[in-house]
Amino acid sequence: MKILITGGTGYIGSHAAVELITAGHEVEILDNLCNSKRDVLGKIEEITGVEPKFYDVDLRDAEALERVFEESDFEAVMHFAGLKAVGESVEKPLEYYENNVGGTINLLECMEAYAVKKLVFSSSATVYGVQESPEYTEEMVTGLKISSPYGRTKAMIEEIIQDVAQSDPEFEATILRYFNPIGNHSSGLIGEDPNGTPNNLMPFITKVATGEIPVLAVFGNDFATSDGTCIRDYIHVVDLAKGHVIAMEQSTPGVKIYNLGSGKGTSVMEMVKLFSRVSGKNLPYKVVERRAGDLAEFYANPSKAERELGWKVELTVEDAMRDTLKYLQENEQ
Ligand code: NAD
Ligand code: UD1
Repeated sequence: MKILITGGTGYIGSHAAVELITAGHEVEILDNLCNSKRDVLGKIEEITGVEPKFYDVDLRDAEALERVFEESDFEAVMHFAGLKAVGESVEKPLEYYENNVGGTINLLECMEAYAVKKLVFSSSATVYGVQESPEYTEEMVTGLKISSPYGRTKAMIEEIIQDVAQSDPEFEATILRYFNPIGNHSSGLIGEDPNGTPNNLMPFITKVATGEIPVLAVFGNDFATSDGTCIRDYIHVVDLAKGHVIAMEQSTPGVKIYNLGSGKGTSVMEMVKLFSRVSGKNLPYKVVERRAGDLAEFYANPSKAERELGWKVELTVEDAMRDTLKYLQENEQ
């Protein structure tokens, strides 16, 4: 299949590109490089032997986007491009709605105009908002009590995709709700390389490990969990990327929604201990105030993806940490 990957030089998109090429698909990448670097393309080639064609295009630029669709005959789109910093989205909500929602509308318009009818979309567990049970299933009501404008862009895009599919019986969409992606390709060549200050736990752990940050701030240890720190469902990004390939290959008309997670929760303190064990060095940490909006615990019920797609995680949190250390080794100068 010939597939356009938006956001394909980014963290998850680049891993999806590798898995798609490995599975025999033809991949082209579009990215405006606002949170990734062009040299990722060469790294994808080092891993797979193929350097994907690249379009340095912003999804908000409708004319440039249309030229991409004019130039190529895509059968499918994997849509990763978007802004994802939760805190920043609270400060700059309009930028997030314009980029994530506006960019997606431009993309869907081009798909409609050029009769590209297959889509896989990067959604997030954040669309579940606050729920009674920490174990999230796809049937739960979404879009309520979402903690940030970022999260609301994901919920809105999910609705827009549902409406588009409703209007065209041939349209095929798979919405994948990611839990907490960590790790990187085992080669250490591609990984998470955010421009500026990171947001998520693993990149912070990495910065403490390299000495860039002296100590990890653990955001609260008075939650109602076994050790008082928050519990999340961490998923190896290579497992996540493989889930995309399967979802795309098994796509059928209509909208399907899947959680992509491990189904297993790990606390922040467990993450600190695991990283110390895998790296052989104690990771310095300090318990500080809770971060606004953090939920004590949530994890995926991933049984729908296993039942319908035959997908489940194969790698562990320790594997992800080992691969992260390899990425650090490959990228230290
Ligand atoms: P990332 O920032 O590494 O990748 C996103 C890419 O999109 C970047 O390369 C960026 O330059 C590009 N981009 C952003 N706006 C663009 C625009 N208007 N036009 C063209 N390119 C644009 O992030 P990621 O972690 O790889 O996330 C990929 C997707 O998965 C995002 O939509 C994100 O919201 C979603 N997601 C990520 C996580 C996570 O924890 N990483 C969790 C749930 C969902
Ligand atoms: C965050 C986002 C969520 C998004 C998800 C994946 C918030 C409130 N939520 O969720 O919308 O979908 O990332 O991108 O930001 N932690 C520390 N110290 C740190 C960093 C994190 O203790 O320096 C803790 C957090 O309190 C949390 C856990 O580590 O308990 C994981 O944090 P993070 O990686 O930001 O993910 P989420 O909180 O799940």
